Amino acid sequence: MWKKFKEWFQQNFYNKQVQLRERYLDIKNHDVEINGTNYFLAKAMIPDIPEILGIERAVYGGQTPWDERAFRTELMRKSDRLYLVLRRNDWLVAFIGCSLNDHTKDCHITNVAVAPNFQNHGLGYFLVNIIIKKARQLKYDKVTLEVRVSNARAQKLYRDIGFVDNGLKKDYYFNDREDALNMILDITKIG
Ligand SMILES: CC(C)(COP(=O)(O)OP(=O)(O)OC[C@H]1O[C@@H](n2cnc3c(N)ncnc32)[C@H](O)[C@@H]1OP(=O)(O)O)[C@@H](O)C(=O)NCCC(=O)NCCS
Repeated sequence: MWKKFKEWFQQNFYNKQVQLRERYLDIKNHDVEINGTNYFLAKAMIPDIPEILGIERAVYGGQTPWDERAFRTELMRKSDRLYLVLRRNDWLVAFIGCSLNDHTKDCHITNVAVAPNFQNHGLGYFLVNIIIKKARQLKYDKVTLEVRVSNARAQKLYRDIGFVDNGLKKDYYFNDREDALNMILDITKIG
């Protein structure tokens, strides 16, 4: 009985999800145009980590909330993580990452940042929307994220895209114990 169920599950659910992931997460690096400027969109790789940390330092007052080891661990998880970078003239100017949970059908944005000189050029909007597109292709139900309660700039971007508030995580951030706001985008209702 269990064996039959397992076979049925693998044929009807597991294999389909694996196929979807293989098809839609195999992103080929390519040029993209965002608000009239050309960038190079690529899957993040281990050698990108120093530049990713550089952006973290630039946007988080010299801090790196995620260190080299954390990014390395994430980038090595090929099957349930997706990390993308945008380059302009070979400089890494923005990145985004998400974790993918086939069981809860939740695509969770773990990290997004744009280099200060490139903010307000539509890069954050573009990257979040790519992740949403991938989550929809994988037939997920939702995209979620946490954001500092004080980070009005990021919250505005997420609300403009359609995310809504979904409760607080008290004392969430390690260094200063600021609360996190959970935000969620229901993608089952997008046409
Ligand atoms: C938050 C952050 C990622 C936003 O990225 P960004 O590239 O500066 O944001 P964008 O330029 O894409 O969006 C800016 C604005 O344009 C809107 N926008 C951009 N492109 C758009 C488009 N094509 N259509 C409609 N609206 C668009 C956004 O909603 C936003 O609205 P506003 O101008 O009224 O504020 C960036 O400020 C950042 O890196 N901050 C520091 C790190 C951080 O806080 N990360 C988030 C952690 S949860």
